[in-house]
Amino acid sequence: MDILLSSTEDEARWLEELRKAMPAARIHRGSAPVPCRYALLWQPPPDLLSGPNAGELRGIFSLGAGVDSLLPALPPGALPPFPSGSSSVPIIRVEDAGMGNQMAEYALYAVLDSFRRFRFYESEQRQERWRPQPALARGDYPVGVLGLGVLGTTVARTIAGLGFPVLGWSRSGREIPGVRCCSGAAGLEEVLAESRVLVILLPLTAETRGLIDRRALEQLPAGSVVVNLARGPLIVETHLREALDSGHIAHAYLDVFDEEPLPPGHPWWNDPRVTVTPHVAAQTLIGPAARQIAEKIERLEAGLPVSGIVDTATGY
Ligand code: NAP
Ligand code: GLV
Repeated sequence: MDILLSSTEDEARWLEELRKAMPAARIHRGSAPVPCRYALLWQPPPDLLSGPNAGELRGIFSLGAGVDSLLPALPPGALPPFPSGSSSVPIIRVEDAGMGNQMAEYALYAVLDSFRRFRFYESEQRQERWRPQPALARGDYPVGVLGLGVLGTTVARTIAGLGFPVLGWSRSGREIPGVRCCSGAAGLEEVLAESRVLVILLPLTAETRGLIDRRALEQLPAGSVVVNLARGPLIVETHLREALDSGHIAHAYLDVFDEEPLPPGHPWWNDPRVTVTPHVAAQTLIGPAARQIAEKIERLEAGLPVSGIVDTATGY
């Protein structure tokens, strides 16, 4: 079986782990079209799957959880939509593969950093100041999680498990014990109105692009904190800057940006109200992810259903 691997990140490691997980497969690295049964892609060049390739394809795998950069790179003609919104050639993404725990660690760091005012005390230390602040109760510190998918659910459960009230928002509405789950426009308002910390774990789609704009930020309680772990364009950057300038938003933890790497000289680099990390909130663990892909290929070959199929109509 021929498999095409094209990744802008860690391609050699992917090849090594995929070869271990699928010793019988012929895995071709490259950015030029070759006939293949499966394509494993991360930020592929446009037209990689066009031409004679398309007819042989049985599945396209995203080497990450998000597919916002993969979908536009696929030739529309080669993937006729089914009425369900899925495509005739399934597009399958990585599910969790160690990313849920990493997301929970990052979100928890932001929650505890803010809740226990560690940034404030750090700056106090530098000024040799001793000014204890009143303690807060966890029950008075609600955390909102936008997106209750594979990653958002782990984040919401972890934070709720520590006794913080957690409100979650998703498209279809979910049921997660200990989490107040909301959906729809009214549900979003409910979550925003209470969240002292807002964790964003939505996919970037036509519906979610720019969702966190001036109006949404204004709905958050004064002094709240925004944590974007998903994709930069979910937040309107200029509106976030205004909200930080006015003091309405106390701090932003940003792992993802409109432009990555964050360009030199960008104001976030030196803004003490912003914590910048280089898109590392949850990194695909290549070994477990390669094994997950290999198992799914085995199931597809056996005509069995697989999870993680992207709905091209909704874009995630
Ligand atoms: P997922 O399982 O597909 O979950 C997506 C969640 O968002 C679902 O709960 C979905 O609602 C909800 N959603 C989608 N569109 C919505 C809308 N218009 N309104 C309300 N809710 C909506 O995705 P995941 O695996 O958790 O990953 C989430 C995102 O994290 C990825 O798309 C990727 O961009 C990002 N990510 C970032 C990093 C990083 O290192 N920074 C790493 C991995 C992933 P339903 O439950 O109703 O479907
Ligand atoms: C990383 O951002 C991913 O989508 O897996």
